[in-house]
Amino acid sequence: MGHSHDLFLPPSTPNPALSHEQMDADDMGTWAFGGGEANGPYGEGVPYRQAETVDGTPKGAAGSWKNGSGTAVRNGGIRLRAPIERRYYAHTPSHIYPPEVHDYNARFTRALEAIKRRHDPTVATVAQGVLEWQRTRGIKSGSGVGIGEAGATNGGGVVQAWLDRFYMSRIGIRFLIGQHVALNTQQPHKDYVGIICTQANVHDIVQEAIENARYVCEEHYGLLRGPPVQLICPRNLTFAHVPGHLSHIVFELLKNSLRAVVERFGVDAEDRGVGYPPIKVIVVEGGEDITIKISDEGGGIPRRAVPLVWTYMYTTMVGQSIDQDYHVGDFQAPMAGFGYGLPLSRLYARYFGGDLRLISMDGFGTDVYIHLNKLSSSCEPLP
Ligand SMILES: Nc1ncnc2c1ncn2[C@@H]1O[C@H](COP(=O)(O)OP(=O)(O)OP(=O)(O)O)[C@@H](O)[C@H]1O
Ligand SMILES: [Mg+2]
Repeated sequence: MGHSHDLFLPPSTPNPALSHEQMDADDMGTWAFGGGEANGPYGEGVPYRQAETVDGTPKGAAGSWKNGSGTAVRNGGIRLRAPIERRYYAHTPSHIYPPEVHDYNARFTRALEAIKRRHDPTVATVAQGVLEWQRTRGIKSGSGVGIGEAGATNGGGVVQAWLDRFYMSRIGIRFLIGQHVALNTQQPHKDYVGIICTQANVHDIVQEAIENARYVCEEHYGLLRGPPVQLICPRNLTFAHVPGHLSHIVFELLKNSLRAVVERFGVDAEDRGVGYPPIKVIVVEGGEDITIKISDEGGGIPRRAVPLVWTYMYTTMVGQSIDQDYHVGDFQAPMAGFGYGLPLSRLYARYFGGDLRLISMDGFGTDVYIHLNKLSSSCEPLP
């Protein structure tokens, strides 16, 4: 890049909304996405958050984090706190960047897009690698990475922890890339800041995931009508979130519930006139959390197997292992079979400070709780 113009970046200053009295040195940081218009990272007067790379070194202005008016960081009426060093804003009232900067940024954005696309099949590739590793150790496929033939750990605990760390980093990196690309390529939308929807409607996202999961289930089992799903959710419940993350989680959990119900009652339940018991999805807004409970009557999980469901590659689905049916780009939307649904969904939930819990009544059904942090008051949980 030539330097015919002096590149001047305005000095960044701590967010004025976060005065010292409000700071808590032990607080890990706040990621609040207030309301407001989506602007480009170099848009006029836009305060930006200084993003950090995975190893903690600042990345400059590349990650633009619009934060409402920049005057009061409030979400749900609660004043958020953050250590001062993590939140910087630079006011760029009438700054015009030279064309080289725009050109450089356009090329940088294209490079990021290519990187993201190139790594699309990573989950499947790594899964295949783990499978090969399991084979060399004589571990039966589908038995989960933590578990050996006789249930003894087989060096798998280390692999499980490594995969958690690897996939969590992957979610973070892809989120940052997605954010940069969206901010630089998409038309501003009043409800979006990059890929973050500041007014994500929980009802609509969950409803869509229900329809998609039922469709996959009906296709897979050749059913005319899959088990019914009841959604109890306030129509106007919105919060700041990445819609894609939430729909991924709900879709995966519903596939599991639908499968459990169909397999317990049989694919011919409708024909026999018994019908399927409905799966209930209940969404409730609390002071800090939005909680989604998915309850099915699919027979539950034996208590012995409950810890295993969180391990990668643990599945009770037979005949659909990744090595038989795998084609690149094909990894999405099978009914089940890779043993990735639960552990990956939990990482997505944890990424924005939420969590995923599963409680099973063996012989009756399973309840899964998705806790979503409404306040966005956590920092990136890289292990
Ligand atoms: N709601 C449920 N009821 C009964 N068993 C369940 C339920 N959810 C999960 N399980 C059990 O946990 C296992 C692991 O679930 P997970 O979603 O991680 O993988 P999977 O469904 O087998 O494959 P995929 O990666 O395609 O989701 C399932 O194979 C199933 O045995
Ligand atoms: Mg699953």
